Amino acid sequence: MSNFLINSRAQSSINLPPFSTRALEFHRSLPVYNASPLHSVKNIAEFYGYNNIYVKDESNRFTLPAFKVLGASFATFKVLEQKFNIKYSTIDEFKSELAKCGGLELVTATDGNHGRAVAFIARLLGLKARIYVPKHTKESRIRAIESEGAQVIIINGNYDKAVEIASKQDAIIIQDTGYVGYEDIPKYIVEGYSTMFWEIEEQLSTNDLPNPDVIIAPIGVGSFISAVIQFYKSTSPYHPIILGVEPKKAPCALESIRQDLIITLKGRYESVMAGLSCGRISTISFPILREGVDAFLLVSDEQALKAMKVLAKQNIVSGESGAASFAALVLLFSEEGSQIREYYHIDDSTNFLVFSTEGATDPFMYSKVMNTNNLKELI
Ligand SMILES: Cc1ncc(COP(=O)(O)O)c(C=O)c1O
Repeated sequence: MSNFLINSRAQSSINLPPFSTRALEFHRSLPVYNASPLHSVKNIAEFYGYNNIYVKDESNRFTLPAFKVLGASFATFKVLEQKFNIKYSTIDEFKSELAKCGGLELVTATDGNHGRAVAFIARLLGLKARIYVPKHTKESRIRAIESEGAQVIIINGNYDKAVEIASKQDAIIIQDTGYVGYEDIPKYIVEGYSTMFWEIEEQLSTNDLPNPDVIIAPIGVGSFISAVIQFYKSTSPYHPIILGVEPKKAPCALESIRQDLIITLKGRYESVMAGLSCGRISTISFPILREGVDAFLLVSDEQALKAMKVLAKQNIVSGESGAASFAALVLLFSEEGSQIREYYHIDDSTNFLVFSTEGATDPFMYSKVMNTNNLKELI
């Protein structure tokens, strides 16, 4: 099977409502807000013969090692404000109003990062959290969620089964994927991610750097790349090429676009890129990806682990899912990527933007990757 799919339905601009800056303003109002760094790794770009590579580094978002809290926080606040009709001017005020609602509990399913983010927000607001995880979730990811004070339930099944079980709970469900009858909250989650792109705009202009021409973003259920598309093909005045990356073991978006319907992967699809090991894309993402992703790239577990090491040499801590976009960039630069490069007129003037969406979310694995030369042993 080819590691690329050029999407013939892709458009350069899309008719989606542009993002306002309300998610950015919301995040700025939270404790310990800082814009995440945007690194310019020009040395690597020049080595391969291109102009520049920007890496948005999400290894520390509100003290958590992944970007997911941007979506979980914005969606949770929006849902609770609306459900209980709460008006507040400080987080403490919001918290005390919520306390009057009695024993509220947030529920979600996760392959790690989103669940930890929901647990973190629950703790910030003094609420309970119950997080469903697939059977093969790494112990360290479970402990990280529990460290936020949440109850973790390991289900006998994969990520999609966990989503199904969570959807049936009688609680406030904060899920980052849409399904029939459940689309409002994932839309808020997508909007929450927009903060990252407003930050990038500011970082590029402050440092007098040119806009990206090609963006590579990871795909799990497709919510994150939907936000990328909504920003760069609708909100921003310039419209870069958008490439999506998935693990070879879990190509649910690529297959859905190829078949032009939402498919569910059969069998086991766990990759070391835990956050991208999903079997079915979100119902809200499908139409957005259908017109918004110019091409799909598949990367192997080994390519992702290698990318972690290359990024580490640039002093960027990037976990398995985090390094997927950079791994796809290296694939694009290889002989195999020549068709895509030619198709999109990628040349020595091109500027790339990739998202390192997590840091060392599995610290044990991270140190093993850093300390071994035989990466195949770890897969
Ligand atoms: C680190 C990381 N990157 C990327 C993604 C993919 O995001 P989405 O599932 O919205 O496509 C995830 C999802 O959990 C993730 O944890």
